[in-house]
Amino acid sequence: MKKNKLTTVLMVAAGLTASASLVVTADPVDEALEIDGQAMISRTAAPDGHPLKEVISGWHYRKAETRNLEKDTFENPGMLAVEQGEEIWNTVEGTAGKSCASCHNDASESMAKVGSTYPKWNEASGKPFNVELQINQCRTENMGAEPYKFDKGGQKPLTAYIKHQSLGKPVEVDLAEGEMQKWWESGKDLYYKRTGQLNLSCASCHEKNNGKHIRADHLSQGNINGFPTYRLKQGTLISVHNRFRGCIRDTRAEFPAAFSDELMALELYVTWRGTGLSVETPGVRQ
Ligand code: HEC
Ligand code: HEC
Repeated sequence: MKKNKLTTVLMVAAGLTASASLVVTADPVDEALEIDGQAMISRTAAPDGHPLKEVISGWHYRKAETRNLEKDTFENPGMLAVEQGEEIWNTVEGTAGKSCASCHNDASESMAKVGSTYPKWNEASGKPFNVELQINQCRTENMGAEPYKFDKGGQKPLTAYIKHQSLGKPVEVDLAEGEMQKWWESGKDLYYKRTGQLNLSCASCHEKNNGKHIRADHLSQGNINGFPTYRLKQGTLISVHNRFRGCIRDTRAEFPAAFSDELMALELYVTWRGTGLSVETPGVRQ
């Protein structure tokens, strides 16, 4: 089963159409995304230097039932995690006796632009910070609490809660700060680097073959404006670095550690590829 799927993927990547029933190209659905009646930018003209003409949210590649779950926050199963994140936001933890709210008050104001502008240059660390790393920094330096381990504790719900405050805002990363441009370049190199036994890059699937069907999966552009995203298959929120690692593993390559320089560079570059798309967190995917 697994082997067949990978073989199919390989053939798609090589541009071979083995059998019309296995590989079918279908346009992303032409429908507007509104969440609770609020219009989202789910397709838009690509920024300068982007290889594609149009940037399209992964939402357009999913089936109607999956798309509908995202349109209504009461139906969206990822919203439970967002509510959990809100509780954590207000919970005192650590030796300083503070909660996030003690310093940042109302997240709908203090965090309104975080989800749409991260990763952001962090001067002290000399690298871009995503929301997860920023949360850990506040926990250790401002709360006297332990940092969350990857995907553990409150990391996913709190990240989802913070990014959800930017719902609808267009993604825009500032590449002029610090050494962001350099990190963007290394992220780009990784995006196009073919790896693993299958010799595939991110671009083999998400750029060259987006729009193709591989069995149950309709290949999207691999944008991350909906992350952390709720995956129906796994029944839980999936973080950006977990998704990246999963995709790399599928090419049968060694996968880098979460929050490693490699994956941070890739997150910056992939975020940029989704410039102009609304933050959809928590997105719903298959
Ligand atoms: C003792 C006060 C304090 C506490 C408690 C605290 N923070 Fe912070 N936080 C700060 C300061 C100070 C900054 C840095 C502001 C700056 O220079 O950008 C910051 C920055 C941030 C930022 C970046 C904001 C931006 O606009 O880039 C995020 C996100 C954040 N904190 C989240 C959290 C979360 C989540 C918690 C709880 C787990 C938390 N903070 C707890 C003081 C605190
Ligand atoms: C063998 C093909 C393949 C390769 C190579 C691949 N992916 Fe994927 N990826 C998929 C499939 C299939 C899905 C699920 C359908 C979809 O959303 O495109 C997916 C989904 C994603 C998503 C979720 C999109 C959303 O809207 O939720 C992201 C992000 C992503 N991939 C990033 C990457 C990155 C970054 C790389 C390179 C490190 C990569 N992928 C390499 C096949 C691939």
